[in-house]
Amino acid sequence: MPIKAKRSTGAKSKPQNLDAVAVLKADHRQVEEWFSQFDKAKSPSKKFELANNICEALTVHTTIEEEVFYPAFIDATGDKDTHHEAVVEHAGAKKLIAEIKGMSADDDYFDAKVTVLSEMIKHHVKEEEQPGGMFAEARKSDMDLFALGEQLRARKTELETHARAA
Ligand SMILES: [Fe+2]
Repeated sequence: MPIKAKRSTGAKSKPQNLDAVAVLKADHRQVEEWFSQFDKAKSPSKKFELANNICEALTVHTTIEEEVFYPAFIDATGDKDTHHEAVVEHAGAKKLIAEIKGMSADDDYFDAKVTVLSEMIKHHVKEEEQPGGMFAEARKSDMDLFALGEQLRARKTELETHARAA
């Protein structure tokens, strides 16, 4: 669905779905759903398809967080520790994603790698969504979460279009 760049005039008319935290949380819910389908899947082709969806989505998610959300977060809060931990955790996830993308579903280690990736992402989600976590801190700060939400969505569309064309 195309996103019209509506110039908003007042805080109260801004739709919730343009909030940066809501955009990132929606990504979390989507990959959680695919991980749980992966758990139940039997056929290698279904597992391969789900793993592929997960890897693509997480690549886009980590990129928009690192390019758009995290820099704004560190600017607004000065909380380097939370930010640096998140970046280090992303690096671990990216390494695993690259390995999974180079595998076929009947590889001995395929299921194990997807399972470990799901554990890493559970941790990532907790760090961001728990009380006092990154999203709660962001909401308390003076970050413009609506403007950031628009930026996140725009960059996400760009990356997804690029991935589909590749
Ligand atoms: Fe995230």
